[in-house]
Amino acid sequence: MRRLTLRQFRVFEAVARNLSFSKAAAELHLSQPAVSMQVKGIENILGLPLTEQMGKKIYLTDAGREVLHASQSITALLDDLQANLAQLRGMDSGRLNIAVTTTVSAIATGILASFRGRYPKVAIHLDVSNRDSVLGQLAQNRIDIAIMGQVPSGLDLEATRFMDNPLVVIAPPDHPLARKKKVSLTDLASEPFLVREAGSGTRGAMERFFADKGLELTTSMEMNSNEAIKQSVQAGLGLGILSLQTLDQELELKRLVVLKVESFPIMRDWYIVHRKNKRLSTATQAFRNFLLVEAKKYLRRA
Ligand code: PGA
Repeated sequence: MRRLTLRQFRVFEAVARNLSFSKAAAELHLSQPAVSMQVKGIENILGLPLTEQMGKKIYLTDAGREVLHASQSITALLDDLQANLAQLRGMDSGRLNIAVTTTVSAIATGILASFRGRYPKVAIHLDVSNRDSVLGQLAQNRIDIAIMGQVPSGLDLEATRFMDNPLVVIAPPDHPLARKKKVSLTDLASEPFLVREAGSGTRGAMERFFADKGLELTTSMEMNSNEAIKQSVQAGLGLGILSLQTLDQELELKRLVVLKVESFPIMRDWYIVHRKNKRLSTATQAFRNFLLVEAKKYLRRA
């Protein structure tokens, strides 16, 4: 038995959609006799006419409608297949150029690791720096996408919130305030703090909080690393304010405690951010979607 070919289906789909041999021929860049020949070919195989002519118009027969239906399903399936293969090709050689702020890097690297498990061929370039530096890289179009705290309004950025980021006050377990059931803001005012460098989002949020409450912030040391702040707090050099998400191990091992301070935690959020007019590569889009779905698994609340 002779089989119908994909080409015949494609040609007939165009004829049936346009209800015209000449329009189908123009659309497919074929001559009209070539189109008629393809349709004749199907009719010969099926032994049924697919179209009938009345006056100048052509109409589909019942068999024609059946073949049109099958042609549309087949064409859609082939288009989908082509799109999916193009997507896979993109993911094969794709590259993800991402910057994340220091504080979110613990979460971001976890999500990147699972993303890489799913798409092992995507090359990932990760930059970890503070908020001001990440904003600068977005402004200079040096990165495709970023994960960071809330972005300033008025910039040409598209930011989608995906997770909470509670900031808490940390102390060594033997600190006198660690025993208090309720620590007041005035208790804090007399304590020295270890702070992140200027340009850090955590530092900015901490300063805004103290200013809003009319409190003086006494800083004992400034450093550009959350790890160094945790170690210095442990060593008794002062208190710290950090994202709860950076403290898993220290809290579990009881090296640090979270003080029960009124008005805390300071609630912030994490966003996935890119420039509004940026054309995201397949790999970047895949990462953005992946993060928005996966983030729920990493969610921790204060
Ligand atoms: P950072 O991160 O303190 O490490 O800069 C916080 C933020 O992105 O706002």
